[in-house]
Amino acid sequence: MTVSNNPIKFAYWVPNVSGGLVISSIEQRTSWDIDYNRKLAQIAEKSGFDYALSQIRFTAGYGADKQHESVSFSHALLAATEKLKVIAALLPGPWNPALAAKQIATISQLTNARVAVNIVSGWFRGEFHAIGEPWLDHDERYRRSEEFITALRGIWTEESFTLKGDFYRFNDYSLKPKPLDPLPEIFQGGSSRAARDMAARVSDWYFTNGNTPDGLKAQVEDIRTKEQAFGKGWRTKIGINAFGIVRQTEDEAKEVLQEIIDKAIPDAVRGFHHEVQNAGNASPEREGNWAKSTFQDLVQYNDGFRSNLIGTPQQVAERIIELKGAGADLILLGFLHFQEEVEYFGKHVIPLVRELEASAPVRAQAAE
Ligand SMILES: Cc1cc2nc3c(=O)[nH]c(=O)nc-3n(C[C@H](O)[C@H](O)[C@H](O)COP(=O)(O)O)c2cc1C
Repeated sequence: MTVSNNPIKFAYWVPNVSGGLVISSIEQRTSWDIDYNRKLAQIAEKSGFDYALSQIRFTAGYGADKQHESVSFSHALLAATEKLKVIAALLPGPWNPALAAKQIATISQLTNARVAVNIVSGWFRGEFHAIGEPWLDHDERYRRSEEFITALRGIWTEESFTLKGDFYRFNDYSLKPKPLDPLPEIFQGGSSRAARDMAARVSDWYFTNGNTPDGLKAQVEDIRTKEQAFGKGWRTKIGINAFGIVRQTEDEAKEVLQEIIDKAIPDAVRGFHHEVQNAGNASPEREGNWAKSTFQDLVQYNDGFRSNLIGTPQQVAERIIELKGAGADLILLGFLHFQEEVEYFGKHVIPLVRELEASAPVRAQAAE
C-alpha cells in the first residue's frame, strides 16, 4: 500500500451544535456559541491545525438540541482567521447544488480560497421528516450525493455546464465568478460500501469514523482498489475521526475516558443508536459508520474512542504515526474542553508527530 510522506494534517470538529461531542454528563468546557468558536479557531490555527470541520443538523432527538447552520457559521470562522481552512457541511436534499456552488464560490472569493465542503448523506430520518424532505433509501442517498458532487465540480470547473441526472439538471450553466484557485476541496462523510464507492469515484477526501489501524487499512485498501477499477485519476485522501484525551500520564487519560463512560446518558445514547440504524445498517451489505458500534463507542458520536488517541503525548503521537502508516492523511479531533485541549495538543503532540514523521517511510513499510 502506498502511504503519503506528506506531514499528516490535523482538523478539529467545530462545536457549532450544543452539548459537546460526547453523550455524557461529564463536564465539557466547550460552548457552541460564536464567541467561543471564533477564539477556538484562532487558537487552532496558531497551534498547527490545518482544518476546522463544521456540522450540519436541522434538529436533534438525542441531545445536541441547538444547532447553528454550517455554511454561515463556517464563513464567520473564516472571517476571524487567516490561515485555517474551514470545511462547511452540506446535506443534499435541503441543499441544491446550484445554490451550494454559488454560495461556496462567493465564500472562496471572500476568504482567499480557504473554504472546503463536506458532503454528508444523511442518517437521521427524524430530521428529514421534521423539515419535510423525502427520505431516500441508503444507497439512493449516496447516488444523489455523487450527482451533487459531480454537479459542484462541473459548475466550478466548466465554462458551460450541462448535466442530465436522475436528481439534478443543468443546461449550459455558467457560474461567474468561479471559486478562486485552488478549488474548494470536496470531503465526504460515510464508510459504507456506497460511501466508499462514491469516494473512489468523485471525492477529494474520505472521512471515516474512529477505528483501529487495521480497520482503517482495510477501508483504505478497498478504496485504492476501487479507484483503479473506476479509473479515477487522482488519489483520494483519507481522514479519520478520533476523540483526543491527552494527559501527562496514561492513568490520568484512562480515568477521564472511564468517567465519560460512567456518566454516559443511557437514554440519549440509545436514542442516538436507534437513529444511526438508518445509516450503514440500512445499506444492503450492512456495513458503514456505526454498523459495529458498541454502547461505549456510541457515547462519542463518531466512534472516536476506537482510534485510541488516549494517553500521554508520546503515546498519542506514536498512535497517530500508526494511523498514518495505515493510510491516514488527516486526523479529525474532538475534545472535552476544546480551547484548552486544542492548545495543549498543538504544544505537546504535534511537535512529537513532526519528529516521528522524519522516520515515516520506515514506519510505513513496517505497517505493510
Ligand atoms: C467526519 C464525519 C462528519 C460528518 N458530519 C455530518 C454532519 O455534519 N451532518 C450529518 O447529517 N451527517 C454527517 N456525517 C454522516 C455521514 O454523511 C453519513 O450520513 C453517515 O456517516 C452514514 O454513513 P454510512 O453510510 O457509512 O453508514 C458525518 C460523517 C463523518 C464520518
